[in-house]
Amino acid sequence: MPTATKKPLVIVTRKLPEAVETRMRELFDTRLNVDDRPMSQGELTEAVKTAQVLVPTVTDRIDRSLISQAGPQLKLIANFGNGVDNIDLDTARVRGIIVTNTPGVLTEDTADMTMALILAVPRRLAEGTAVLKDPKKSWAGWSPTWMLGHRIFGKRLGIIGMGRIGQAVARRAKAFGLQIHYHNRRRLGEEIEQEFEATYWDSLDQMLARMDIISVNCPHTPATYHLLSARRLKLLKPSAYIVNTARGEIIDENELARLVEAGQISGAGLDVFENEPAVNPKLLASDRVVALPHMGSATLEGRIDMGEKVIINIKTFLDGHNPPDRVHPAML
Ligand code: 8YV
Repeated sequence: MPTATKKPLVIVTRKLPEAVETRMRELFDTRLNVDDRPMSQGELTEAVKTAQVLVPTVTDRIDRSLISQAGPQLKLIANFGNGVDNIDLDTARVRGIIVTNTPGVLTEDTADMTMALILAVPRRLAEGTAVLKDPKKSWAGWSPTWMLGHRIFGKRLGIIGMGRIGQAVARRAKAFGLQIHYHNRRRLGEEIEQEFEATYWDSLDQMLARMDIISVNCPHTPATYHLLSARRLKLLKPSAYIVNTARGEIIDENELARLVEAGQISGAGLDVFENEPAVNPKLLASDRVVALPHMGSATLEGRIDMGEKVIINIKTFLDGHNPPDRVHPAML
């Protein structure tokens, strides 16, 4: 009788949708996290010392010190997520560990959530809902001058980062009558600019000073950390709004909270925060902030598609091929 070949050990750091976990168990010797309790750095260290493949998420810090402790058996870090700012790519490369991510499958969901925030903040949806839900704020009935927000149609939207998600936001925003402006490392091709009737700003500072709404859609890298610094936030018009569904670290959160509180920025729609799960209390206290707990890609379909990508990356790699979503440090 032929001896069964040992399946590779794959350690998954968080609970994933059932369909994904079932398939992973069929294919690999999979160690799941049924309780969904984030793993400690000690538990992660144990994982990188034993697994051939690690499947982390945004909540795991896969930094230099952790990767340096990995055993020689660790060959692949298949991130369950698009952003890889939780992983030290350079150290992984030096150690010969391949890193993959899950691009493409969360574009539409994240763009939908971005659009929801673009609509919600200027139209004061959070405050309106609070009035109805809070018995202390009783609603005396309709009034012509009460709860006035701002029109979206015709306003200038400045998108920072015109990759997949930025473009999906532009497509939606154009349908709502917003004027599309963008700042990106590289200017887009003429055809795409024409599709969105988009205006390119080489200077982020110049764009910020002229926009009604800013949407952050770039990845978090060392180059984009605090891209919206205290100095740049002050360039915004006091009537402007900021929406961020990318990463909290791209905005100086303390300064944003201060400027919103001082009325020097009109409001913010935030799905991500600088020190998750902590959120600056000033932001939570403000009526002009709509805050969500990192839900941009949180659809069942999206998370199953992400899991499918993770499986394909692992399977392709274990079969001796180049995984389709390999991340190279130079790409960022
Ligand atoms: C994911 C995200 O849920 O994929 C990303 O980059 O920001 C989220 O939508 C999370 O990263 C999973 O690791």
